[in-house]
Amino acid sequence: MRYPPDLLDEIRARLPVSQVVARRVQLKRQGREFVGLSPFKQEKTPSFTVNDQKGFYHCFASGEHGDIFKFLMKTEGLSFPEAIERLAAEAGVSLPKATPEMVRREGERERLLALMERASAYFEGELKAATGREARNYLDKRGVQPQLRAQFRIGYAHNDRFALKNHLSAAGFMVEEMAIAGMVIAGDDIAVPYDRFRNRIIFPITDLRGRVIAFGGRAMDPSQPAKYLNSPETPLFHKGSVLFNADKARQAAYENGSIVVAEGYMDVIALVGAGIANAVAPLGTALTEQQIRLLWRMAPEPVLCFDGDAAGTKAAHRALETALPLLQPGLSLRFAFLPEGLDPDDLVRRAGRGAMAEVLSAAMPLVDVLWQREWQAGNWSTPERRASLEQRLRGLVECVGDMAVKTHYHREISARLKRVWSAAQGNQRSQQRQTTGASHRSPARRDMPRRSDHGRLGAPASASLLQSGLIQGAKSLVTSREALIVRTLLNHPWLIDEHAEEIAALEFEAAPMSKLRDAILQVHALENPLNRTTLHHHLDRLGLGNVVTLAERANTHKSDRFSEPDASEQEVALGWRDTVSLQRRGTELERAMRSAEEAYLADQTPEAQAQLMAVRNLLENTERQEPSLDGFEVDQDVAPRRVGD
Ligand code: UTP
Ligand code: MN
Repeated sequence: MRYPPDLLDEIRARLPVSQVVARRVQLKRQGREFVGLSPFKQEKTPSFTVNDQKGFYHCFASGEHGDIFKFLMKTEGLSFPEAIERLAAEAGVSLPKATPEMVRREGERERLLALMERASAYFEGELKAATGREARNYLDKRGVQPQLRAQFRIGYAHNDRFALKNHLSAAGFMVEEMAIAGMVIAGDDIAVPYDRFRNRIIFPITDLRGRVIAFGGRAMDPSQPAKYLNSPETPLFHKGSVLFNADKARQAAYENGSIVVAEGYMDVIALVGAGIANAVAPLGTALTEQQIRLLWRMAPEPVLCFDGDAAGTKAAHRALETALPLLQPGLSLRFAFLPEGLDPDDLVRRAGRGAMAEVLSAAMPLVDVLWQREWQAGNWSTPERRASLEQRLRGLVECVGDMAVKTHYHREISARLKRVWSAAQGNQRSQQRQTTGASHRSPARRDMPRRSDHGRLGAPASASLLQSGLIQGAKSLVTSREALIVRTLLNHPWLIDEHAEEIAALEFEAAPMSKLRDAILQVHALENPLNRTTLHHHLDRLGLGNVVTLAERANTHKSDRFSEPDASEQEVALGWRDTVSLQRRGTELERAMRSAEEAYLADQTPEAQAQLMAVRNLLENTERQEPSLDGFEVDQDVAPRRVGD
């Protein structure tokens, strides 16, 4: 029999712990607590404490800890329901009568859980059987090793329409139960109920106690209309209040004080595989209130991962809006943005755990995401516009439910506004001074962040507050062109003979690529002629194997063929020339962009804005251009290849 939690709260509210404990232990008041001799251990000096405010007792001698119910269970050996009955009577709280309906429902739950467990074991077995060969190959290809499969109890549902149904029937389950559990599709218009999951990789979804309550199934065949199929809502499974892997992640989260929220099953599995055990995911929907509350039971500031693209930013904003009314002192969210087009699964496989850890540690506080979103939404060059930004921010802060948190949001946002507005005014003044020969740079201007600071966590407030809509957000860890350049060198080291100086002079944004380029030049200086295999060998020895993989797997595009090992020398030479000139042009534009940004931040005039827009457009066009043998062409299709798709 399950009692509603508020009923238990009612009993707890009426019975102070000290009152329940006092019948067994002689208590003495000490400040806000009571102390006495431990009922759990023979002792002479009291190490047993009771705190009525917190509703707990704690024994320092034995580590025993709990509420009134647990106390009776531990000291009198009662079962939980017995303890509830006893204390309810004592508190004068009447318990709902166990109706036959409730007993039936409870029995049904047990059976459904047994059914799901049976199904899970069946799918697991199928993955290992002969029928599961294709599924095993698929998992191999995606890097999900047997150990990881076992850990997540990954299974396979084969193509037969009645495989699971027959198996469960043989185990004594009724078709109606299978339908309630969501495992077969049945209904008035369906003559013969059939298995819901067919020809899919199966991921069991568990409750916090690790019991299987639902499944997710991934199609291996890309032509299938739904890539993922989940169990429907059932008496066991309410999608909006469950997180994939919550049961196992909870312990890990507790140990390191943080929890990571990814988007999908494969992300969580890859993260766990990479040693990031505190990872969960919602089940194909935006994060719900209940899920946020569940996350806060695991860690105070869950880190949500999003793709750095427009869709990812939008999803982040949605999560922010859900969380805003729920914020509590000490409880918030943080936002990690991945390089564009990559999910955590892609990132850990391509760039390793370190790259993921870097992204996670750069996660932005909620207040920064909020600020950035609003600041980027417009141009604040007139008093009216500035007032409208203020109004909008004030409205958002009003959504915060908790009074203390709301007050601090007000303070923080006001302070930021004050800083931006006074920076703008300060620059106007400094320009006036400049004409009379006074100080060249205003303080506000000297504090201006460099572009590479943007999107870094923990960056000083001035960095985030200057992230205007016209200023580019976080850069990808690896820009595709830089990776392409390095990949070409890896595959065609002979280029270095002719272009060593030019290569050394290239400016890279991505530190890993820059480092790899330096190492390649170094190896080349020591060993010449240099072939592809020896180059790889040396780089491996230098511990750069990961970065090499990163370069090799970065965004590929059909016009990048020249970088492949089998491209002809002529192809390589032409492709190289085009790519390098694009890179140089990019660098020039970056510089122009930087000064246009500074000019705009200093003085938000329409001219400065127009100049910034113009440079930005040029830069974006250059970034979109892919080198091709026919000259330059603009190609929209620059999405990176996804591993395993
Ligand atoms: P994604 O489409 O981003 O896929 O869906 P993914 O997680 O990267 O999966 P792989 O790497 O292609 O295998 C993210 C999540 O959205 C839900 C699933 O929970 C998935 O993990 N989803 C996606 C669905 O429920 N149905 C779909 O058809 C697609
Ligand atoms: Mn994926």
